Amino acid sequence: MSINVTAQPPFNITRASHVCLTVRDLAASRHFYTEVLGLVVSSEENGVLYLRGIEEACHHSVILRQAQGEPSCDYIGMRVASPDDLTKAEAWVAGIGGRAERVTRPHQGPSLLVTIDPATPRVELCASMELVPRLLADYPLQKGGKALRLNHYQCVVPDVDRSAGHFGALGFRPSKFTTEIETGKVVSIFMHRKNDPHDLVLARGAGPRLHHFAFVVSDLQAMLRAADTASFYGYGRQVEHGVSRHGPPNGVFLYFRDPDGHRIEFILPPMQFMDPEEVPNAWDSTQGPSLIPWGDGPPQRWREEATPFSGLNSGAAYEGRWLPKI
Ligand SMILES: [Fe+2]
Repeated sequence: MSINVTAQPPFNITRASHVCLTVRDLAASRHFYTEVLGLVVSSEENGVLYLRGIEEACHHSVILRQAQGEPSCDYIGMRVASPDDLTKAEAWVAGIGGRAERVTRPHQGPSLLVTIDPATPRVELCASMELVPRLLADYPLQKGGKALRLNHYQCVVPDVDRSAGHFGALGFRPSKFTTEIETGKVVSIFMHRKNDPHDLVLARGAGPRLHHFAFVVSDLQAMLRAADTASFYGYGRQVEHGVSRHGPPNGVFLYFRDPDGHRIEFILPPMQFMDPEEVPNAWDSTQGPSLIPWGDGPPQRWREEATPFSGLNSGAAYEGRWLPKI
């Protein structure tokens, strides 16, 4: 693998933290996210819904913004350690020819919207966020899958080596990657800043697009309860893929599609991946079946459909094969 990872990044990103999506019917989305997934509403203001998992102590991890037109992702959010990191981020982005814009967001401290390049997911960096109560012990309030906390994003990009190179320069370490056996180019890569295998997964495809964002749930029963609740409310066909297991991160998963087609993954608490001497799992594009050790692979819609990023050309062409055929 040719992606360089620095141990001394120019500024300190700490974790995946919040995602902002557009939706066509905020009431329908509210119903799905609260009753099926089990997120809780932190606030609703001016056509924008702010949600969080029941374990989360910061105001929001999902922002749903009512808008006309094709549902899209405005940005994926990452926390930084301090406001000073945003100043350093501005200098780094300017140095690579990207665009960084200071933004004022409700319930957030200093924030910076970053477009690294047109073929890489747009990222909002956030230095602090308003605190709210954790609701882990508020049992009567917990519904559906009782989603605990946001864990990671998976995005499809036309050139994984290029986009992953940017995040490697920001200290994102790979925990797993798959290379195309004919060319040696990276087909997919799991990268992380916190102490588990993934904050950001990049996979080859027309993009940039958001393939899914993932929440941790407590156990299998929470996944099944969310699926049963989805069925009860008529969302049964939106339980898209799983329950099954990703091989390398030892992760059990279940995927849902929300009323606008945005994809949400539920995962069990992932393994720890933290110490600097740990080496990533390396796979090649002939090993697809090992990535899902039992059961069928994903349906075709899982392989092809994803959410475009607002204002970016999400159809940028790519060369070579996409995810290994499973
Ligand atoms: Fe995932």
